Amino acid sequence: MSDHKGFVLWFTGLSGSGKSTLSRMIEGELRKRDCKVEVLDGDEVRENLSKGLGFSKEDRDTNVRRIGYVAKLLSRNGAICITAAISPYKDVRDQCRAMNRHFVEIYAECSIEELTRRDVKGLYEKALSGEIKHFTGISDPYEAPEKAEVTINSETQSEEESLKSIMDYLEGQGYIPAVAANA
Ligand code: ADX
Repeated sequence: MSDHKGFVLWFTGLSGSGKSTLSRMIEGELRKRDCKVEVLDGDEVRENLSKGLGFSKEDRDTNVRRIGYVAKLLSRNGAICITAAISPYKDVRDQCRAMNRHFVEIYAECSIEELTRRDVKGLYEKALSGEIKHFTGISDPYEAPEKAEVTINSETQSEEESLKSIMDYLEGQGYIPAVAANA
């Protein structure tokens, strides 16, 4: 195992903005470096830890606080915990930040226009037609972070560029050891 401290890598962003994809890419990159890493993915958490919760503010806050709590347990034991939930409300994200000593917030930015055009899960169309109510970014709020440690943008960057900007940040801040170019 490589010698690294535990920390939380907290993604926030609208549905379809690339949180899960980038989480998995980072997970792979960190495993290559022998880091202990776990991903708490939004959809997966809702199937398990938060089964039965809906999308009211109260339920989202409960969901996000649970993720923050598990992230704390993992990271204080030396694991890197990557979370990938929309986590739309700033105050609860900040509570999660306060719970965790080493916390890196990544804002996965993408315009509603682009997300609606892509509509990978077909949810934006349903939200726009009113079939799904309280859909984040369409009929429910999303509070973008003001001071995320890293912002990535799937409209203007390739996945590899986004991955690199996050890895560069983590290496630059000493969260993970840099790999030699010939390693
Ligand atoms: S959060 O607000 O509580 O952080 P979370 O990331 O767990 O949200 O779940 C978001 C996922 O649930 C979306 O990617 C989408 O697939 C699905 N979903 C279903 N209904 C909604 C809704 N009303 N708003 C946002 N996402 C929804």
